[in-house]
Formats: sequence, structure tokens, C-alpha cells
Amino acid sequence: MNEIIEIGDVPWTLSDIANSYTEFKHVYSQRPIVDNAGGMKAPHAFACWFMLKQLQPGLIIESGVWKGQGTWLIEQACPDAELVCLDINLRRLQYRSSNARYIEKDFSLVNFSEYDKANSLCFFDDHQNALTRLQQMKWKGFNAAMFEDNYPKRRGDCYSLKKMFGGDGFALETAEQDSAQTAGYIEPNTTHREELYQALALYYEFPPLFKEPMTRWGDSWDNTHYPTKPPVFAANVEDELRDEALHYTWMCYLKLKAA
Ligand SMILES: C[S@@+](CC[C@H](N)C(=O)[O-])C[C@H]1O[C@@H](n2cnc3c(N)ncnc32)[C@H](O)[C@@H]1O
Repeated sequence: MNEIIEIGDVPWTLSDIANSYTEFKHVYSQRPIVDNAGGMKAPHAFACWFMLKQLQPGLIIESGVWKGQGTWLIEQACPDAELVCLDINLRRLQYRSSNARYIEKDFSLVNFSEYDKANSLCFFDDHQNALTRLQQMKWKGFNAAMFEDNYPKRRGDCYSLKKMFGGDGFALETAEQDSAQTAGYIEPNTTHREELYQALALYYEFPPLFKEPMTRWGDSWDNTHYPTKPPVFAANVEDELRDEALHYTWMCYLKLKAA
């Protein structure tokens, strides 16, 4: 199934997105890490900042901190939120917030029972299996999340919501030949898609800002391989952040149905 999935409604419009871009660029120009290689670049940073600014969660769990640029961005969008930052390796931090709580553990190993989760959101940028993350969220009492690495079939290094909706299963591209023996392999299936439809009250993929003629992998943006919303800005719009636009990751926002 290769289509753009959308479940429920988000509280913003395409015009809100386009109209916020100038403000974002001003915020982004002040980022502490100019070249955040290995972390979010402009299109995901914009998606993350914009959605959090709209949603204003009171508690944000960031899983996958890397050098800390995402933490800084989250603070720009939600200065009053309580922030918990998780990474299995916190030694690479270049930006450390004085307001966040840092824990060097996987999400599954953190006890969140003391936290008020009524207006909370988990932001996963940790390259882990998204199905497992959804199950862990539910178990721990969270119901809203954003996933950064939401790659389609054949792309990315983890099992994503987009792959589940596509019925694609998961195999690392390099290991496709002996995929059944590879750690993390999931055979193509429709079960996970059906379970997502049962579990999700909302699923929304943030659109790309720009669409270059070719993807970052050098092939064309056909919707069979890359079901993708139309870009926010037209092909002829000049922008200094355009060269970062190729790093688009189909970042999504979702809410679980109430139990
Ligand atoms: C792509 S980077 C995160 C980038 C960051 N969000 C940013 O924009 O700068 C992925 C991070 O996930 C971390 N990671 C890997 N496995 C993890 C896990 N099980 N739990 C939490 N973090 C994990 C890695 O150590 C790495 O720092």
C-alpha cells in the first residue's frame, strides 16, 4: 500500500506552516551547533519546532539527544515545558540545558510513574523500532508522540510507522539478501498496519518544505517508493536552507486512542 496516510485532524493549517517559516529561520540562525551532522537539519528542525510550538506539551520526553541541538530547539518552542532527555550515550553533548533532566538509559528502562502525563509528548529520534516504542508508551501511560526517523520502505535504519502503514516490514538495505537472519528483520505484513488503525486517534506526516528534483538517494520522488505530501513551498522559491531540504524524514505526530 503506497499512499499518504492521515488519521484525524491537527490544529494547524498549511498556511500556518508557511507563515511560521520566517520566524523559524530567525530562531534557527541562533542554534548552538551550526552543522548538526548526524542530527536534525532544517526541515526536521522546522517540523519539530513548529509542531511543539502549536501543541505546547507540559512535559516532553526527548529520546535521542546526540549533541543536544534538539533539546535547545524544544526549549525555543516550549520554554515552560518540563523536559526529560534520554540517550544511551550522553558523552557527545555540546549543548546541555540547565532546565532538563538527563538520563542515560533507554526509554523502556525509565520509570515515569511520578510524572503528570496528561499533557505530555514523547519525541523519538533514537532510531529504534517504532512499534515497540508505541507499545512502551502505552504501557507507561503516554499518548502523544513525534517520530523523527519515519522513513519509507528500503530507507532508514529502523522499523517506522511509515513502513508499517506500507505493509513493508523491515530489513536493512545492505542485508536484504540474508534478511531473515538479520537482527531486527520484520517480514512484510498487514498486521501492524491494521493494529495501527485500531490504536491511533491521529497520525500526521509533516510535509517537506521543498522538493528537489531527486531524493537524497539519487532517485526520483515517485509516490510508489516515497508517498510524500506536496511541499510547502513551490519549486522556484529561493531559500538559503534549501540544501538542507533533502534531509526530509517524513516526521510524524500521532496520538493513541484512549484506552
Ligand atoms: C540521530 S541522533 C539524535 C539527534 C538529535 N535529536 C538532534 O537533532 O540533534 C540519535 C541518537 O539516538 C541515540 N540512541 C541510540 N539508541 C538509543 C536508545 N535506545 N535510547 C535513546 N537514545 C538512543 C544515539 O546515541 C544518538 O545520540
